[in-house]
Amino acid sequence: MASRPMAPGPGRPGPAPVLVTGGTGTLGRLVVPRLRAAGCRVRVLSRHPHAGQEAIEYVTGDLSTGAGVEAAVDGMATIVHCASGYRGDPEAAGTLVRAARAGAGVGTGVHLVFVSIVGVDRLPVRGPLDRGMFGYLERKLAAEQVIARSGLPWTTMRATQFHDLVLMVAKRLGGLPVVPVPAELRLQPVDPDEVAGQLVELALGEPAGLVPDLAGPRAYTVAELIRSYLRACHRYRPMLPVWLPGAAARAARAGALLPIGGSARGPAPGGTAGRSWEEFLADQIKAERAGTGGVEADRVASRR
Ligand SMILES: NC(=O)c1ccc[n+]([C@@H]2O[C@H](COP(=O)([O-])OP(=O)(O)OC[C@H]3O[C@@H](n4cnc5c(N)ncnc54)[C@H](OP(=O)(O)O)[C@@H]3O)[C@@H](O)[C@H]2O)c1
Repeated sequence: MASRPMAPGPGRPGPAPVLVTGGTGTLGRLVVPRLRAAGCRVRVLSRHPHAGQEAIEYVTGDLSTGAGVEAAVDGMATIVHCASGYRGDPEAAGTLVRAARAGAGVGTGVHLVFVSIVGVDRLPVRGPLDRGMFGYLERKLAAEQVIARSGLPWTTMRATQFHDLVLMVAKRLGGLPVVPVPAELRLQPVDPDEVAGQLVELALGEPAGLVPDLAGPRAYTVAELIRSYLRACHRYRPMLPVWLPGAAARAARAGALLPIGGSARGPAPGGTAGRSWEEFLADQIKAERAGTGGVEADRVASRR
């Protein structure tokens, strides 16, 4: 496999480091050790200072103001862009692109590797109602376009919702006496570690443009996901189906957030099949039994 970030050779000092924006987030935290395991030196951009570790350098910068971004991209061959905020993703992508173009990228240009969301191009976000519920996805599509039109070599992979996100929503809604669930809305959640594995493969390879979607093994209704969480916590809550209004919600009910054809991308090269939602939940319970958190902790907390 071609290996852009690892380009040592005669007269060259060693592998150019890979910048991971959002390397402190849910996904980025899984990307960083995988890059390290592949032999890359890693630089992480964060808004907050962090102590460095062997071959992991933390630089402080902010993609919403641009502070520190040019210094962060300096000397990079590859940028894995995992940073995201609720608002401002297209602007943040623009800031990163400008810094990468202006700066000291290696060779013909920095390879930008971006992670987006399955269905961003199939969800009609037309008015304030759609935007209130799905504006984040609209902004993600705009960020994709900034990357694709940057003139830099790029790769974008869209993934479905991470198990962690589904769990967070299930915890919040499952804490209510009656659980409102968006009626007939379907998701096909994926293990973020699987996403990290695929992103690192893409970062180590040649720029590939828009690659096939990545999804977990199975689609569920949101009601099924929340019910399985409640069952795992030995809790019962009545559910109230809510018909979300608007064109985007209608498209989501029709499957716009699922990968096309309903099929997931295959297991990551290296053999790790993506954990299913049920396996993820079971692991959460095991983690609780081992005293490191999980859904059982929520059950206990909910009794207090
Ligand atoms: N979560 C999902 O279900 C899901 C599904 C598909 C795709 N994705 C995409 O995957 C990516 C990663 O998601 P995630 O869930 O891992 O996100 P996350 O846990 O919320 O992490 C967000 C990261 O962005 C960084 N960040 C936020 N604002 C920043 C700014 N102004 N400047 C620099 N860094 C900033 C944060 O770093 P500091 O706080 O250290 O600055 C943090 O590390 C996102 O692009 C997201 O849209 C997520």
